[in-house]
Order: sequence, then C-alpha cells, then structure tokens
Amino acid sequence: MLGFPSNISILLLLFLYATSFHITMSSNHSVVQCNEMDQDKLLLFKQGINDPINRLSSWSSEHGCCEWKGVHCHNTTGRITSLDLNSNMYNESASFKGEINLSLLLQLEFLNYLDLSSNNFTNVSIQPTHNNNITISTKLHYLDLSNNQYLHIDNLHWLSQLPSLKHLDLRSVNLEKQTNWLEIVAMLPKLLELLLSNCELNNIHSSLKYVDLTSLTDLDLSQNNFNSEFPQWLNLPNLRYLSLRGNQLKGSIPNWLGNISSLMDLDFRSNLLTGNLPESLGQLFNLFTLFVGNNSLSGTLSEKHFYNLSQLSNLDLSGSDFEFHMDANWIPSFQLEDIDLSNTVLGSKIPAWLYTQSSLGTLDISSTGISSIDEDKFPSFVAGIEYLYLSNHSISADISNVILCVSVTCLDHNNFTGKLPSISAKADVFDVSHNSFSGGFPSSWVNGTELFYIDMESNKLTGELPPDMSNLTELLFINLENNEFSGKIPRMPPNSEMLILKSNQFEGNIPPQLCNLSALHILDFSHNKLSGSIPQCLHKIANMVSGENDSSWYSFRELTFNLVMKGQGLKYRYIGLLRTIDLSAKNLSGEIPEKLFRLVKIESLNLSHNHLTGTIPNMIGDMKNLESLDLSYNQLVGEIPQSMAGLTFLEV
Ligand SMILES: *[C@@H]1O[C@H](CO)[C@@H](O)[C@H](O)[C@H]1NC(C)=O
Ligand SMILES: *[C@@H]1O[C@H](CO)[C@@H](O)[C@H](O)[C@H]1NC(C)=O
Ligand SMILES: *[C@@H]1O[C@H](CO)[C@@H](O)[C@H](O)[C@H]1NC(C)=O
Ligand SMILES: *[C@@H]1O[C@H](CO)[C@@H](O)[C@H](O)[C@H]1NC(C)=O
Ligand SMILES: *[C@@H]1O[C@H](CO)[C@@H](O)[C@H](O)[C@H]1NC(C)=O
Ligand SMILES: *[C@@H]1O[C@H](CO)[C@@H](O)[C@H](O)[C@H]1NC(C)=O
Ligand SMILES: *[C@@H]1O[C@H](CO)[C@@H](O)[C@H](O)[C@H]1NC(C)=O
Ligand SMILES: *[C@@H]1O[C@H](CO)[C@@H](O)[C@H](O)[C@H]1NC(C)=O
Ligand SMILES: *[C@@H]1O[C@H](CO)[C@@H](O)[C@H](O)[C@H]1NC(C)=O
Ligand SMILES: *[C@@H]1O[C@H](CO)[C@@H](O)[C@H](O)[C@H]1NC(C)=O
Ligand SMILES: *[C@@H]1O[C@H](CO)[C@@H](O)[C@H](O)[C@H]1NC(C)=O
Ligand SMILES: *[C@@H]1O[C@H](CO)[C@@H](O)[C@H](O)[C@H]1NC(C)=O
Repeated sequence: MLGFPSNISILLLLFLYATSFHITMSSNHSVVQCNEMDQDKLLLFKQGINDPINRLSSWSSEHGCCEWKGVHCHNTTGRITSLDLNSNMYNESASFKGEINLSLLLQLEFLNYLDLSSNNFTNVSIQPTHNNNITISTKLHYLDLSNNQYLHIDNLHWLSQLPSLKHLDLRSVNLEKQTNWLEIVAMLPKLLELLLSNCELNNIHSSLKYVDLTSLTDLDLSQNNFNSEFPQWLNLPNLRYLSLRGNQLKGSIPNWLGNISSLMDLDFRSNLLTGNLPESLGQLFNLFTLFVGNNSLSGTLSEKHFYNLSQLSNLDLSGSDFEFHMDANWIPSFQLEDIDLSNTVLGSKIPAWLYTQSSLGTLDISSTGISSIDEDKFPSFVAGIEYLYLSNHSISADISNVILCVSVTCLDHNNFTGKLPSISAKADVFDVSHNSFSGGFPSSWVNGTELFYIDMESNKLTGELPPDMSNLTELLFINLENNEFSGKIPRMPPNSEMLILKSNQFEGNIPPQLCNLSALHILDFSHNKLSGSIPQCLHKIANMVSGENDSSWYSFRELTFNLVMKGQGLKYRYIGLLRTIDLSAKNLSGEIPEKLFRLVKIESLNLSHNHLTGTIPNMIGDMKNLESLDLSYNQLVGEIPQSMAGLTFLEV
C-alpha cells in the first residue's frame, strides 16, 4: 500500500477490514465495533461462568461488544484490550462464580488488562499452548485474580507465556501446590508488582542460584507459611515495598536490606525474627513505614538506627525486647504519624524524643512500664492524637485538665485520679476502666458526641447519670460496673447492645424504656438497690427473642475494625453475641412476668436475691438456649415445671 495516496489507502483499509469490523457513526460520537473473533470468545466465556444476578445482560449480539459492561476496545482496531469484571463494588451474592477459562481469555490477542478479582470463581482452566496452534495474548501486563476466596490454582506454568506481565495479583488464591512459584515468576522479565499474600505458599527458597526479579518494585508475600530464614534473593535493587508479615520467618533481619535505598515500606510483623534491627536500616532515606512488631527482636536501639530516616511516618516496634538507648537530647529527623511501642520496655517515663513528635495520629505505648507522665508536656502531647493507647501501667496522675481530641482512648488499668479528661465530639471509644477516676459522668456528653463504647468499670465515679441519654444514638456498649453511681436509671441510648450497671448504688424501678431497646443482648443491673417489679414488657427486646445469631456480631466487628485499627487489648472483641439478663438486684418484688420467657434466645438468666413471688411459669421450657439459670433466694413457691427437662443446654 505504500505507493497509494493516503486517502486511497484509507479507503482500501476500510474495504479490507469490512468483513471483520465496521465503524458506526452516530451524530456526536463513533463507537468502534469489536472484532467478531474477540466477541465470540467473550460469549463463550460468559457461557462458562455463573452470573447470579445477570450483570452481563449487555453481553449479547444486540450490542457491539465494545459497548459491553467491563469491556474496552482499542479505539481504532476494535480489538479488546481490557476486561474488568471485578466485584469490589458488589455484595457477595452478586459475584461471578464457576470456572475461569483462561485459555479462552488469553486468545484475546490484544488483551493487556484483565481483572477478575473479588469474585467467587473456584477454578482456572488453562491448556498448555505449545502443543496447539493458539496465539495467546503477549500484551497482557495487568492480571488480577485476587480475592476469589475458594480459587485454587495448581499450576502456574502458563505464566511463562505472558512475557509482558508487570502486575500480578493472586492474593488469597490458594497456591499450596506450587513448590516452584519463584522460578516461574522469575521468568517474567518486566514484573513490577507481585502480590502473593495469603496464598498458602510454603517455600520461599529457590533452587536457582540467581533469581532475576530485578525489575520488581512491590512484593507482598505476607500471610503465607514460610518458616525459614530470610532468602538472599530478596536483595532486589528496585524494591520499594516488601511485606513478609505473618509468616514464621526465623533468624535475623539481614544487613543488606540497608543497601536497597529505594525501600519505602518494610513490613515484617508477626514472624519469629530474632536479633537486633540492623543499623544499616538507618540509611534508608526513603523509608516511610517500618513495621517489625510481634517478633522476638532484642538488643540496643540508638539514634543511629534512625539517623537518615527523615521520611519515616509509621513505626511498629511492639512486642520486642529492645533497650532504648537514645540520647536524652535526641531530636529525630522524622515526624511520625503512627507509632506502636506497646509491650516494649520504655522505662518509667515517656522518653523525651517521643514528646518531639507533634503530628501523631496513633500512639500505642500500652504495657511499656511507664509509671509517670510529664504533667506539663502531656496535655499538649496527647491533645491531637486520634488513637491513644496507654493501657496497663501504674500511672498515677490527675489528667482532668487534659482535652482529648481522639476517636479512641484507652487509658485502662492505670491509677489515674481526679475527674475524667474532656473528650471531643468525635470520640468513639472511651475505655478508662480499672483506674481511680472520681467525680461524675460528664453530662455534656449526651449532646453531640459519637461515642460508641464506654467502659468505666472499677473506678470511684459517683453521682447520677444524665436523666436522658437517648441522644447518644451511636452508643452501643456501656459498662459502668463497680463504681458508686446512684439515682435512677436514665433513658438509655436507643441502640444499646450492652448495658452493664452492675455493682453501683442505682435505685428506683427498672424503667420500661428498656423494652424498646431492640438490639440489647447483654443486660446486667445486678448488685444495685433497684426495687419494684420486673417490667411486664421485657419480652419485647427483639434481639433476645429472634435476633440473628451473627448479625450483631458482624456489625460490631466492622465497627471495631474501622474504629480501632488494632485494639487487641480491648475486651469487647471477645464478647461475641452473648445474650444475658442479670437482675439479681436485691429488692425486686412481684411475680416473674410470664412473658419474660418469650426471650427464647437468652443463654443466661439471673433473677436471684430478690423478693420475687409466685410460681415458676411452665413457659420457662421454651428458653431452649439457656445455659445458666439462677432464681435462688426469692420467695417463689410451687413445683419446678416439667418443661425444664427440655432445657438441654442448661449447665447451672
Ligand atoms: C451524544 O449526544 C447525546 C444527545 O445530544 C448526549 O446525551 C450524549 O451524552 C452524547 N454522547 C457523547 C458520548 O458525547
Ligand atoms: C484513540 O486513542 C488515542 C489514545 O488514547 C488517541 O490519541 C486517539 O486520538 C484516539 N483515536 C480516535 C480515532 O479516537
Ligand atoms: C446483595 O445484592 C443483591 C442484588 O443486588 C440484593 O438482592 C441483596 O439484597 C443484597 N444483599 C445484601 C446483604 O446486601
Ligand atoms: C462461593 O463458593 C463457595 C465454594 O464453591 C461456596 O461454598 C460459597 O457459598 C460461595 N459463596 C457465594 C456467596 O456464592
Ligand atoms: C476453554 O476454552 C477452550 C478454547 O475455546 C476450549 O477448547 C476448552 O474446552 C475450554 N475449557 C473448558 C474447561 O471449558
Ligand atoms: C473446581 O473447584 C471445586 C472446589 O474448589 C472442586 O470441587 C472441583 O472439582 C473443581 N473442578 C474442576 C473441574 O477442577
Ligand atoms: C498449526 O497451523 C499450521 C498452519 O496454520 C498447520 O499447518 C498445522 O497443522 C497446525 N498444527 C496443529 C497442531 O494444529
Ligand atoms: C552495601 O553496598 C556497599 C557498596 O556497594 C558494599 O560495600 C557493602 O558491603 C554493602 N553492604 C551490605 C550489608 O550488603
Ligand atoms: C503475633 O504473631 C503470631 C505468629 O507469630 C500470631 O499468631 C499472632 O496473632 C500475632 N499477634 C498479633 C497481635 O498480631
Ligand atoms: C493509686 O493512687 C493512689 C493515690 O495516689 C494511691 O493511694 C494508691 O496506692 C495507688 N494504687 C496503686 C495500685 O498504685
Ligand atoms: C443539649 O443541648 C440542648 C440544646 O442544644 C440544651 O438545651 C441541653 O441543655 C443540652 N443538654 C445537656 C445535658 O447539655
Ligand atoms: C437531644 O438533641 C436535640 C438536638 O440537638 C436537642 O434539642 C435535645 O435537647 C437533646 N436532648 C437532650 C436530652 O439533651
């Protein structure tokens, strides 16, 4: 065609291609119609998978496949270049299922982008191409099959046919049968990102002397089963991100890491690493994240370990036996955003260099042996922190002048005295349990806070609660056990799931408002001075009648995951979905409302040590989930109902 004038060659081109594609012109745009061979392959692919809510309804011969959902074509040739069927934006029931016929998709010769992540595919089928005549896409540079929870791939050899691959994401795909995954990926000369987290991989070593992954910038091998020492091949000159978190790697962190100056993120948390942090890491001037917590590291840390880390923003040294030998006047070159030093030995005071960190978002110095705080510096130091963990010390200080602008405050298990510190409107979690705080419940909290969890157990708090807490719509968990609160029980937050007012001086009646708390599943008003009768309407507490066994637990976990980035120390992780009522309140009288026994989901019921009268209703036999029942020390009469023989879980 070289000799033709250009307008003729265009005509000729159109003519030549007319059999396989044509261009439709509409008034304001043009759509390329896709190549029929490509279209046929996608239709076959569609036939082979399960699409439960018919998301691929546009995939029909009525439309050109360049207009199909998830499909992109080259704008002039009409060849398919990209297929994106991830289900990140959908719920589980909308995800695609079944088998991925990868042989078929790879016959889309010009495909360069393939994303089938976050679905529920279970199998990948791929035939070796060397014994047939199929041309496969050599252009594919992006392949993402991650988060198909039940997908297992027994053979990765086909990867070697994809020489253009730059981004390979197989996170959470089961690759346990791959003993030579490393040799296979090492044949991909252009690979930049290799994400193999949570793949059940067992072997991180290679029989190759030299693994050529020199182009690699991002490597995620976290949550596998590697249990050897650090492999030498990881000495990769262009690496920026390296995660080996959650394996069982042994031995020490190698010195040579300090020579990979491109490194920005290192995550070695939750392994079995020993020895000291190499001083060479202090050279990594690009380092932004250094996570080595939850290993068995030890040794002396000095400012040399950090001397050139001016970009460092996230530091986790938790659970190690480091001795911190920083110069008393050391001013680090970094300003950290998140720091976790929990379960280390910091000494009796917060170290001076830590007070230089003025933009902290998370500070975790729980269980570090601190016994005193600098009362001048402390208030401004903690004021702007969003997640503050200072649990498990014997700090004895009055912090009533401190204003916390935090979401999460955990000051539990210390010996703080004086009034409670002030909190801001964005407070979510407030745990000051096991201290010596005194004074009253701050009445200002009932307006305009987003509190979700309050734990004030075992303090010396006194006075009445605000009479109406119903504006605290976010508040689900309240534990005020073992204080000296008095007065009447207030209107409780409407979405309460847990109300523990045990061992206080509350008096008066049990308010019928409780019956409207449909999410309530833990109710403990025992050891107070409550009187009157048990409200007739308690059987309306919906969660105890017909609640799902896991719904609340899920929402609760999601919330805590969002709010509390780690918070392993928080008790409420372990509550689960227990359903219990404890009204062993000393002075309750009257009969047990028969309808109370409609709360069939309850596992534990304690009405002991009251003055209840009448008989035990036969309906008690309906409470099939009861594991523990205590009606002792009352004035009940009559027989034990026959129906109780059917309570098969009853232990106590
Ligand atoms: C084409 O024109 C119609 C009507 O004028 C308009 O709604 C539509 O968005 C246009 N499409 C493109 C791709 O510009
Ligand atoms: C096709 O896409 C390329 C790159 O996006 C663009 O430069 C070109 O103008 C497009 N051609 C047509 C005909 O739309
Ligand atoms: C998930 O999506 C489907 C279809 O869009 C919908 O019918 C279903 O109610 C959704 N399920 C949940 C739990 O959101
Ligand atoms: C996903 O696939 C697994 C295994 O086939 C199956 O047990 C599970 O129910 C599927 N999940 C959904 C939401 O379809
Ligand atoms: C996948 O597609 C290829 C090519 O069209 C076909 O030969 C093969 O039978 C298909 N595999 C399965 C398991 O359907
Ligand atoms: C596909 O995977 C499922 C479950 O993971 C397995 O039971 C089934 O045998 C596999 N099917 C094929 C054709 O390999
Ligand atoms: C491959 O294709 C060539 C030419 O198209 C043909 O001669 C040959 O028989 C084919 N081989 C196989 C194994 O199909
Ligand atoms: C780091 O690189 C320098 C210069 O290439 C070399 O001399 C030194 O031995 C390397 N250090 C380590 C720990 O690999
Ligand atoms: C610490 O690491 C161990 C495995 O070495 C793991 O089982 C445990 O869950 C980790 N703990 C935390 C708090 O991450
Ligand atoms: C807590 O502090 C109070 C007053 O400062 C002191 O009397 C008490 O012994 C301390 N308790 C503990 C367990 O340190
Ligand atoms: C809550 O706010 C309202 C008006 O915004 C005010 O009248 C009321 O006194 C406040 N309650 C408390 C306990 O501060
Ligand atoms: C609850 O909030 C509303 C709106 O801010 C306010 O008017 C009302 O006074 C508050 N109630 C209490 C008891 O503080």
